[in-house]
Amino acid sequence: MLDQKINDELASRWPAEADLLDGICRYALMPTGKLLRPVLLVESALAVGGRAEQVLPAAIGTEYGHTASLVHDDIIDNDELRRGRESVYHRFGVANAIVAGDALIFHLFRCLAECRNAGVPAARVVTALEVAAQAGIDLCRGQCLESEITENSLLDVDTYLRMIELKSAALFRSSCQCGAILGGGDAESVAKLGQYGRELGIAFQIVDDLFAFTGDSETTGKKPVSDVRNRRLTLPVLLAHEKGDDADRALLDEVFAGAVDAEEALPAVTEVLVRTGALDAARSVAWEHATCAQEALLELPESPSRDHLYSFATRAVDRVA
Ligand code: IPE
Ligand code: IPE
Ligand code: MG
Repeated sequence: MLDQKINDELASRWPAEADLLDGICRYALMPTGKLLRPVLLVESALAVGGRAEQVLPAAIGTEYGHTASLVHDDIIDNDELRRGRESVYHRFGVANAIVAGDALIFHLFRCLAECRNAGVPAARVVTALEVAAQAGIDLCRGQCLESEITENSLLDVDTYLRMIELKSAALFRSSCQCGAILGGGDAESVAKLGQYGRELGIAFQIVDDLFAFTGDSETTGKKPVSDVRNRRLTLPVLLAHEKGDDADRALLDEVFAGAVDAEEALPAVTEVLVRTGALDAARSVAWEHATCAQEALLELPESPSRDHLYSFATRAVDRVA
């Protein structure tokens, strides 16, 4: 219901008749993905007693920021498929994809500012702008850390967790915080919802990383081989490295050094990850973070939105796409 409202709002803001820039942005945004971040923003506002109409522009804005990150991420990862269709850079070229991603980031800030017109006090809007900007900086820092992990073959779980907290969880955190701030929540509620968003985001990214071995492109709309091709040392790979024998480690080292064709190596890597229990172990870590997310909600007053947020934490792990 809420996602339908967000979908309708996006459709009305991005008509089909458009110039090149708006046409690329529309292509990136629609048909939409799962709309998790905008839904989290609105539910967080509602959970602190705010009104959905007042924060809807900010919800649209957070989807712009997220989509921008995907447009750029597909250039970084050289991925041709996104949301079941050609990625933006593959369809429109790298230069246009960079510019459209940049434009979407500016749209995010314009949307946040628009909340004033919907009746949100200016001071709240300024605080939300600051939170959103920090999340964007964190995301960029996470992307850089990911490339350092790859280049230096860093096999360290704590560094991986720090990286995904920055790269992915920051935007989940800021969506929840912005909703709570714009909705008029007190400092404690904002902090609790921020904690919820961060833990949810960590769980969500761990599960996304599992799809490289358990998912298929029909369901996820992305090519599973991407992570191995890009030599991404994700949690299940790190855990298999710990749990496997010397032969397993030798195989993983060879594959993640980029010494073999990723497509050909994927079944053997997956076999190691299954046999060593690394996939299950990584999923357990995701559940731990989802549980922490749920615990962070317990100090908020009971409400339907709090219940929805609680169930999103379960769905962040228990999902196929
Ligand atoms: C993909 O996010 C990027 C990650 C943080 C894993 P989503 O899985 O929320 O992407 P869409 O918006 O539904 O396509
Ligand atoms: C997550 O990166 C996307 C961003 C935070 C920009 P990934 O590379 O892990 O995500 P997918 O799998 O391409 O969606
Ligand atoms: Mg990617």
